[in-house]
Amino acid sequence: MLTMIFACDMNNAIGKNGDLPWRQSTDLQHFKQITLGGTIVMGRKTWESLPGKLPDREHLVMTRSNRDDVETITYEGVLELSEKREIFIIGGGEIYNLFLPHTEKIHRTIIHCKVEDADTFAPEINSEIFKVSDSTVMKKSARDEYDMTFELLERI
Ligand SMILES: NC(=O)c1ccc[n+]([C@@H]2O[C@H](COP(=O)([O-])OP(=O)(O)OC[C@H]3O[C@@H](n4cnc5c(N)ncnc54)[C@H](OP(=O)(O)O)[C@@H]3O)[C@@H](O)[C@H]2O)c1
Repeated sequence: MLTMIFACDMNNAIGKNGDLPWRQSTDLQHFKQITLGGTIVMGRKTWESLPGKLPDREHLVMTRSNRDDVETITYEGVLELSEKREIFIIGGGEIYNLFLPHTEKIHRTIIHCKVEDADTFAPEINSEIFKVSDSTVMKKSARDEYDMTFELLERI
């Protein structure tokens, strides 16, 4: 099964200048809680935006080049693996677009802000295809810039 996880602003923005456009510690904890112990798939640009491997998760990176710093995987390889177990698609924009048609479940965090000059966006989620099955509003902590809403969307 493919599960997608992303955080977006109120205009669906997810990135700016190769990085996350906010500081949201509570959302990073949420991401960790969901993906810990699992397999995460990401595009090469998202891989390069990370400080290194995240603890206790299998990392698979999509690229059309060769790399020796991380395991890589093809589009077909991801789909094949997802028939055997849950795979987390963790971005970025290109990779979310690629796998949305095969995704069963989406963990979406809406960050209560509007990023100026964002350059990367999540795909539009069609409400006739995915329904919101859970939604929790979180007030910002001292280590967050904005309030946020944690949502779970499931394919109808
Ligand atoms: N808010 C969030 O939840 C969130 C999550 C993740 C990322 N982000 C942000 O999103 C931005 C990065 O997203 P992005 O769309 O620019 O890049 P990306 O999706 O992370 O990576 C794009 C790269 O993936 C590889 N790729 C794409 N399609 C492929 C295919 N079919 N087969 C093999 N490789 C393929 C290519 O790598 P090569 O060029 O090496 O061939 C391509 O350049 C950053 O700002 C990041 O911080 C935000």
